[in-house]
Amino acid sequence: MNLPLIEKFPALRNQWLIACQTDKLRKMPVSQMVMGVPIVLFRDALGHPRALLDRCPHRSIPLSKGKIQKGHIECPYHGWQFDGRGICQHIPGLLKKDAILPYSVSSFPVLEQDGFIWVKLTQDQSGEPLLPYRLPLLNDRGYRFFVWEVEVKADLLNAVENFLDGTHTHFIHPGLIRSNHKRSLVNAIIRANKEGVEVEYTEERRQSGLIASLFERSRSKSYGRFKLPSTAQLEYCSKNGTTTLITVFLTPENGTRLKAYIVTAYQKTFLPGWLSHFLIKPFFYLALKQDLQILRMQSDNITLFQDEDFHSTELDLIRIPVRQLLSQNLHPDQVDKMVQLSL
Ligand code: FES
Ligand SMILES: [Fe+2]
Repeated sequence: MNLPLIEKFPALRNQWLIACQTDKLRKMPVSQMVMGVPIVLFRDALGHPRALLDRCPHRSIPLSKGKIQKGHIECPYHGWQFDGRGICQHIPGLLKKDAILPYSVSSFPVLEQDGFIWVKLTQDQSGEPLLPYRLPLLNDRGYRFFVWEVEVKADLLNAVENFLDGTHTHFIHPGLIRSNHKRSLVNAIIRANKEGVEVEYTEERRQSGLIASLFERSRSKSYGRFKLPSTAQLEYCSKNGTTTLITVFLTPENGTRLKAYIVTAYQKTFLPGWLSHFLIKPFFYLALKQDLQILRMQSDNITLFQDEDFHSTELDLIRIPVRQLLSQNLHPDQVDKMVQLSL
């Protein structure tokens, strides 16, 4: 299968990507574009998730517009039915039953993990079957979780950079995350290997913005991480361990649009779950909206100028190693270094 995005980000080949949230996939089929490929998801007769190319081989109707009949997906136009392997099992009105088998649709490996349905667009022929990244803290009763699913107008590299970059926060989230007139010196240690890159921030005082003042008592250090193929993560720690962990799973839909599944875990307080969600979510959501807006602006201007020749300084810690990882070309001089910055 020809996947143009793989040429730009070869590290995405043969990787699990989220196609939807588990509880979105019930009785109706779900359509989702993954890496430029239209996919239809549905559950078979045993309730297992299945993923097929969203195109009926008869007259090219999206199968996702059809319905599920006894675990098979039925095309809405002439009623052809396909099983979870993509094999045509029924053509209404056709009397020669053995003639239907050759009409199949491509199917994709699919699995369910940590509340998401994951698909892989190519069959992994080699070695151990890799599983998707496991969400940390999921079974830890000391944390509460909430999940957001949003459309992002950006390419993968720009979205990852935005999420992990602290230097825009004074301007895009002024007062909410940091303030430009209240900076402090921070040490950043950057570590990279072929699976990802991690930036550890030490000597950092609590962030100057409202979110940290309201919800964070103290901070000993924090981390920004990128994990292949497309996961970005922020972790804030006090001396007693992780206080907040935000993990963003990104699924490129095409070259300029992503689906982001954002899982926020935060330490339980004495407040009931509904009340702490009610208090925390609006602040996080405002920050998210501000990021989505600047990413949209950036994407539109990249399209307008047809130019992604960017200029960076040593403050732009994350872009170069992430770009190198996505193109499977991590340079040794990106592996371990330390930078001091004023955040
Ligand atoms: S287009 Fe699907 S059955 Fe005819
Ligand atoms: Fe931001």
